[in-house]
Amino acid sequence: MSNNLLKGKRGIVFGALNDKSIAWKVAEKAVEQGATITLSNTPVAVRMGETNALGEKLNAKIIAADATNLEDLEKVFVESMEALGGKIDFVLHSIGMSPNLRKGRQYDDLDYGLLDKTLDISAVSFHKMMQVAKKLDAIAEGGSVLALTHIAAQRTFTGYNDMADAKALLESFGRSFGYIYGRDKKVRVNTISQSPTLTTAGQGIGGMDAFFDFAEKMSPLGNASAESCADYCIVMFSDLTRMVTMQNLFHDGGFSTMGLTQAIVEDYIEKK
Ligand SMILES: NC(=O)c1ccc[n+]([C@@H]2O[C@H](COP(=O)([O-])OP(=O)(O)OC[C@H]3O[C@@H](n4cnc5c(N)ncnc54)[C@H](O)[C@@H]3O)[C@@H](O)[C@H]2O)c1
Repeated sequence: MSNNLLKGKRGIVFGALNDKSIAWKVAEKAVEQGATITLSNTPVAVRMGETNALGEKLNAKIIAADATNLEDLEKVFVESMEALGGKIDFVLHSIGMSPNLRKGRQYDDLDYGLLDKTLDISAVSFHKMMQVAKKLDAIAEGGSVLALTHIAAQRTFTGYNDMADAKALLESFGRSFGYIYGRDKKVRVNTISQSPTLTTAGQGIGGMDAFFDFAEKMSPLGNASAESCADYCIVMFSDLTRMVTMQNLFHDGGFSTMGLTQAIVEDYIEKK
């Protein structure tokens, strides 16, 4: 159902790999709500993933880019403004990857070269994106920049590994750049802290299935789906939230505020 919340707006969506991706749902809903968009992902993801099919369906130009590369990012913003016919109103950073997790390195045995890559891909890319956009003056006044994060930035979850540190840094960039971007250009910057979600990146987290089940039982509303996360992103891109900036917004069915639920108690007693 469309309320035309993004009518006339231009957006860039980074990170749609397949139809499980949170960015995929955001792209679909943004267009449904009246926006025109471009899509970006790594050259290899564009070649191997399903991004092209989404581009065709949404009539969205695909601009391949490694989000750790400044020249690539510049290309995304310049080509997006050309393709969409003006400054950008919203940007989604939906990018995360830990080579340490992929290679099964434990947190007390990290490879520091790989840690640099985790931080660069999953966090510094957010700063780079905003720095490039601001220098190009590519985002319109009132524009909205969002990144997706997880509560492992604040609390320790076994198996989350160096992604926890990347998320802490990502959220900090949201606040620090949010101040500068708001002050100078009236652009808002927020992060959305999402429930565990069964996507390609999500499945890479150690013990994901157990954590998904635990979070489901620990959240009064249950885990938030990728689709409901996309709904929240749309509201954050819309003019309805024009005074919200520098926030880390929990979208997790209540998980972040719970201590213990009856469902967990019953599960524990049953298994004892
Ligand atoms: N799935 C979860 O449980 C969960 C929970 C909270 C937050 N998040 C966050 O949501 C975001 C989206 O992840 P998802 O769950 O939709 O998984 P996903 O695997 O579908 O998306 C991750 C994307 O990052 C892209 N990417 C990786 N390296 C890149 C690079 N160098 N340059 C550009 N793009 C690159 C991938 O190609 C992929 O499209 C991530 O930031 C993730 O950490 C996910």
